[in-house]
Amino acid sequence: MTEARWRTAITDHVAHEPYLRGYRLVDLIGRYSFAEVAYLTLKGELPTPAAARMMDAMFVAVVDHGVAVPSVVADRMVISGGNPLHVGVAAGVLTFGEAHGGAIETAARILQATAAQEGDVAALARTRVAQARANKERLAGFGHRYYKERDPRTARMFEIAREVNFYGRHCALAEAMAAELKAQTGRALVLNVDGAIAAIISDMGFDWRLGKGFFIIGRVVGLVAHGFEEITRERPFRRLGAQDTAYDGPPPRALPDAEV
Ligand SMILES: CC(C)(COP(=O)(O)OP(=O)(O)OC[C@H]1O[C@@H](n2cnc3c(N)ncnc32)[C@H](O)[C@@H]1OP(=O)(O)O)[C@@H](O)C(=O)NCCC(=O)NCCS
Repeated sequence: MTEARWRTAITDHVAHEPYLRGYRLVDLIGRYSFAEVAYLTLKGELPTPAAARMMDAMFVAVVDHGVAVPSVVADRMVISGGNPLHVGVAAGVLTFGEAHGGAIETAARILQATAAQEGDVAALARTRVAQARANKERLAGFGHRYYKERDPRTARMFEIAREVNFYGRHCALAEAMAAELKAQTGRALVLNVDGAIAAIISDMGFDWRLGKGFFIIGRVVGLVAHGFEEITRERPFRRLGAQDTAYDGPPPRALPDAEV
């Protein structure tokens, strides 16, 4: 028998029935929430009630954040060009990079590598922030264009993390790094929603490479709603206004071979 080339431990079909991580999908429907089944799909096991509450809180925290962010602008612009919903949503997802949503991955990698070292979190934070400053590195998970004192989503998620015992070494380290950034740079670079999710998923035992997935799963809801709103409420072909654009190239000039 030839070896199967597409192996998976996620879903199987047995007797014409789908099974997710070994559980009959039909039995999950109506008994487990979306957040619980997302945990099962990503981690392979059903969550404890505490893990289910934490998952749900993280998805809600990132569901949408206004019309002005890169993913929603891309989503609505692409639809405005005459494309259907899924194309706009896909364009929105493609904007998720280091500055927008994608910071979860890098932040979780940094937190997991730093927390794995010996020492108390305050000392580890001091060293890691000093290293970032020496290398002119923007520390993923810190800073926000809009929130300058505190990111309210971080505060609420950490409250829940404390309640359900997922506030561990990684969360404490993330908060210590925010305090160190302020002490060493004089700037309030708040622990943003990406940094908070990075810390919480690290305390929940998730691999840092799954980080962006948490943002994608939650934010796709907002992207679908924005795409639908664009289709149903706006005229096609949006363009930027004169106040948004400026030309700063050469003034009108003659071609070199033009007659004098
Ligand atoms: C989110 C972000 C783009 C917001 O930026 P902003 O508040 O508009 O700040 P600016 O990009 O104008 O930078 C202002 C200064 O703060 C510094 N700074 C901003 N975020 C920083 C960070 N995370 N670590 C270190 N320095 C940072 C910049 O280097 C800059 O310093 P300079 O003036 O000496 O050049 C920025 O903080 C960032 O890149 N953070 C890391 C990525 C991240 O977590 N993204 C998720 C956002 S939810």
